[in-house]
Parts: sequence; structure tokens; C-alpha cells
Amino acid sequence: MQDSLATTIVEFDEDTGVGRITLNRPDALNALSGQLRDDIVESLRLLEDHNDDDEIALRAVVLEGAEGNFCAGADITEFEDSAAGASAARTHFEFISQFPVPVIAKIEGYCLGGGLETAMACDIRFADADARLGLPEVDLGLIPGAGGVQYISNLSNPAAASEIAMTGDHISAARADELGLVNRVPDDLEATTQEFAETIASKPPLAIQAIKDSAQTAAQTTLEEGIAYDNKLFEPLLATEDHKEGARAFAEDDYEPEFNGR
Ligand code: COA
Repeated sequence: MQDSLATTIVEFDEDTGVGRITLNRPDALNALSGQLRDDIVESLRLLEDHNDDDEIALRAVVLEGAEGNFCAGADITEFEDSAAGASAARTHFEFISQFPVPVIAKIEGYCLGGGLETAMACDIRFADADARLGLPEVDLGLIPGAGGVQYISNLSNPAAASEIAMTGDHISAARADELGLVNRVPDDLEATTQEFAETIASKPPLAIQAIKDSAQTAAQTTLEEGIAYDNKLFEPLLATEDHKEGARAFAEDDYEPEFNGR
């Protein structure tokens, strides 16, 4: 399936269960206009519809930008309506982080401001060696409006977040990797991202969803609270068909498991 919205392209591969959303405003380096923020949410909804089908359901999403850039941040030409913009901006971040399947950011070129915040709302980030990441809002007299400093503090540390947000400098993918802002800087970004998405898509979906939930909770709780939370996630998984399927595959050497999300 392929669908074009005003500012995104949405694809779903029925063989693998992998969806792909391409931010498609290349003339503005895929800057986040109100329309683009709405279209990201709508694109996720379109992909989520596949979960209602009996055929292959959506199991992983790749989020990327058209024509060699991920996203140059909030659309500066729409800044007059800043209060409305900030609250609207939060919606697509929340939608990504609460989306029931993992979202993988494939980062090429510029990944700045709200673009970096969008990537950090995703579960996994892979970056091209030439990508440039940063939070340039300080030069507009602002702070990152959708949690950029908080995200970097959680993924790395508050000092790294302060350095990046206070200078507004662009950092390299290698530096972002050192700081833990991206998972990997692979030699072949497209092949690695696709292969990773397909791997995740082949795993038991309820366990993957619980891991997403757990990883997000870890950033917000003490270790003790987090472990208690994981215990609650763990118990219901014991009763799933996929747990039995996985156990059977472990017991029978040549049995290839097929996980159905139940
Ligand atoms: N909002 C709206 N339009 C943007 C944009 C943004 N955040 N970032 C880039 N664009 C537009 C430019 O206005 C330009 O449009 P034009 O061709 O109609 O003039 C086009 O995208 C290409 O950008 P340009 O600045 O010419 O490319 P560059 O390679 O010289 O510089 C950047 C690239 C990313 C360094 C530069 O565009 C930039 O600093 N953008 C703003 C980044 C930012 O501050 N984001 C956070 C906003 S809170």
C-alpha cells in the first residue's frame, strides 16, 4: 500500500509488516509545518488501520525525510502563532511515543530542533555518517519547545543537553553516537534500517509493545518503580499464544515460530 498525504508519503509492506513514513517537504528541508505535524499523525493512523486486518499487521515503522534531510525543525515561517504551534507540536511527539509499535528514525542530513525532538520521540535512531544534529532554538531566543533538553538529558546527560542547546551548534553523527543520541551510524543506513525493522517486525508484537512501554517508563521512574512496572507488564505475557509459540520453537530445533500478536 502507498498513500500520499499533502506533506507525507505512507507505505506499508504486506510481506514484512513494516510501514514507512516519509516527511515530504524537501524544499523546506522537511521543516515541521502545522500540516506536516498533522500528516505525521494521520500517517500513523493510516498504518495502524492494518492492525485491524486479519492479514499481516503493522509491526514496525520507519520514519525518514525526503531528499537527503530528516527535518530542519519547526517551520520558522509559521512562528507567529507560537502558543498554538507549541501545543500542536506536542501532539505528534506524543502520538509517536504512545504508538503501539516501535518507530525507528532514519536520520540523514539535517536533524534540527523539532526534527531532533521528533527523532528522539522515536524508539530507535539510526543516522547517516554525514547527518547534522542540533537544537538551534537558542538563536531564535527560544528553548526547544517539545522536550529537546529533557530528551538529551535522559538519553545522555544534562551537561550534554546544556552544551547542545546553549550553543545551538550542529553536532556530527559520530558525536551523537558517542552521546547515545543515536543507536548506530551504520555504513549502509537504508539496508541496516530496513533489516532492523524487519527483525523487530518478526518478533512477538505484545512483547515488543511491552518493551517499548518499559523503556519509556525507565526514563521517568526510579529503578525500583521501574522493576515493579515491568513485573506488571511481564505477567500477562505468560498467558499469550506467542509465549507458547516461542517456547515451542525453543523446544523444537527445526520449528520456525510464527507470532500472531495474541
Ligand atoms: N523552517 C522553514 N523553512 C526552512 C527551515 C525551517 N526550520 N529550515 C530551512 N528552511 C528552508 C529555507 O528557508 C530555504 O527555503 P528557500 O529555498 O525558499 O529560501 C530552504 O529550506 C533551504 O534552506 P537553506 O537555509 O537555503 O539551506 P542551507 O543548506 O543553506 O542551510 C540549515 C540549512 C538547516 C542550516 C538552515 O536552513 C537553517 O538553519 N534552518 C533553520 C533551522 C532551525 O533553526 N530550526 C529550528 C527552528 S525552531
